[in-house]
Amino acid sequence: MSDITKLVQDLKQSLLYQKQLGLEWVPKGESKKGGSEKPKTLEEIRAEIGDCKRCRLCEGRKNIVFGVGSPKAQLMFIGEGPGRDEDIQGEPFVGRAGQLLTKIIEAMGLKRSTVYIANIAKCRPPENRAPLPDEAATCIPFLHQQIETIKPKVIVCLGSVAFQYLLETDQKISAMRGQWQEFRGIKVMPTYHPAFLLRNPDAKRPVWEDMKKVRDLLQKT
Ligand code: URA
Repeated sequence: MSDITKLVQDLKQSLLYQKQLGLEWVPKGESKKGGSEKPKTLEEIRAEIGDCKRCRLCEGRKNIVFGVGSPKAQLMFIGEGPGRDEDIQGEPFVGRAGQLLTKIIEAMGLKRSTVYIANIAKCRPPENRAPLPDEAATCIPFLHQQIETIKPKVIVCLGSVAFQYLLETDQKISAMRGQWQEFRGIKVMPTYHPAFLLRNPDAKRPVWEDMKKVRDLLQKT
């Protein structure tokens, strides 16, 4: 199959998937750039977001939760969207699930400040529901830009929402966790969300197996 046929097939599959999710339109490509353009800085991306009113999530939010960590991080964690504590503090993963994530990061021999943490949605969805497809589609171009700027070696998707929206798939996290995936040339490890671990402590073991794979890969490179 020629490269162009494969490209067209991939694009078709991605558009079909978005249609299945109920998306009737393709978001304005705010992150689209010519291949040779320099990626924006994180500050420039944040400035572009501004006092965002691009989707309904702006109505209930206290703070836009942009992301936190090192702009040179080799490892990036992506969750689904801010909860109550994150909305109040303007920082991702600072509530109970966040404290568990920090412990996981430290158990990997890393510091929270040396990785980068962000979410699919930057504003808190009401009642902690998952971001809807149109909300995710509006917000994700900024996450793509953050990834492009940071250029991490590995992305860990925390839970099915992060995994499915980032990789544009409907595969189940329970089937895919622990298996390397790829996003724009970057290795992606899907694993369970720390909030799920709080409810299901038995799932901590498989998450640790996944994180060991991530740690080993980072140590090799
Ligand atoms: N859960 C998430 O997915 N993200 C956060 O920032 C906090 C909890």
